[in-house]
Amino acid sequence: MIRILGIETSCDETAAAVVADGCTILSNVVASQIELHAQYGGVFPELASRAHIETIYPVIQEAMKTAHLGWDDLDAIAVTRGPGLAGSLLVGVNTAKGLALGRGMPLLGINHLEAHFYSIWLTEAADKFKFPLLGLIVSGGHTELVLMVDHGEYQHLGRTVDDAAGEAFDKVGRLLGLSYPGGPAVQKAALEGDPAAFRFPRAWLGDSSDFSFSGLKTAVLRQVRKLDEEEQVMPVADLAASFQAAVVDVLAAKTARAAAEFDATAVVLVGGVSANLALRESVRAQVDRPVHAPPVSLCTDNGAMIAACGYWRFQAGQRDGWDMDVLPGLELA
Ligand code: KG4
Ligand code: ZN
Repeated sequence: MIRILGIETSCDETAAAVVADGCTILSNVVASQIELHAQYGGVFPELASRAHIETIYPVIQEAMKTAHLGWDDLDAIAVTRGPGLAGSLLVGVNTAKGLALGRGMPLLGINHLEAHFYSIWLTEAADKFKFPLLGLIVSGGHTELVLMVDHGEYQHLGRTVDDAAGEAFDKVGRLLGLSYPGGPAVQKAALEGDPAAFRFPRAWLGDSSDFSFSGLKTAVLRQVRKLDEEEQVMPVADLAASFQAAVVDVLAAKTARAAAEFDATAVVLVGGVSANLALRESVRAQVDRPVHAPPVSLCTDNGAMIAACGYWRFQAGQRDGWDMDVLPGLELA
């Protein structure tokens, strides 16, 4: 059995987990900084790295304790090296280096986007996976359509040309006066609203598999200002539902089209926004093949996905040196 400690500090979650053989979670500890950043309506990078420094060791200790393991029981340490906030990534990478160097253990630098893919390997569906898999990675920082041809082998199909899907949810949430982060709050408000109340634009961008959400965000802003000027009661639920429908329509349609074009065996939805139920429903309705999404707790950033990805990189022979640097702008393909 291969046991890997996964460490994640790329954004506003300090996380550590131990995973066995890339699929069995022995522990998964996440310390969220949501309360710290809520007052700013977004992630404050310098505060994020300071909070990571304070929490990283207790989080790792708890992950080891919950897994009932000693350091000698581990086979390797995997850590996110990018993409993400430079200062935050440094905390995780330096901690992982210290632990691995001190204990003579292999060190593995992990691509955060690739790791989101591996959140699916932590579910029961993993036994049935056959390549190629079509992945829609939707998070606060990324919106990517990627074909996973094999472990560690990816073909880029499309990505956002401006805002990420999660970023759009967060900005619209703020605009509607909802709590931070916007994604879950918009989804909740949308439950009571009519998705057809406002006809917001969908950026299809022709036949391209790229995405654009900044026009939609501006359309919501204009609508809110207009209602404000007219001194109307703000129909928050209708605005949330109509905005969410516009995002989901484009994500689902482009995913379905790419799945057919590349004859993917299945579609995987990963990243924070894949927690969105309307998105899951719409993709399942439009895609004519199996659709897999992780449980909500594994959609947002966590250490288990880093450890799961680390297992496959470890098996492929990856070993990183002590000079491994952070890569804030790292891409998947
Ligand atoms: O993957 P993640 O934890 O961090 C990044 O790598 O960016 O994703 C966080 C993003 C945030 O923008 C958050 O608003 C969004 O995921 N999110 C959601 C939902 N839950 C989280 N967006 C829409 N609906 C949700 N239920
Ligand atoms: Zn993420």
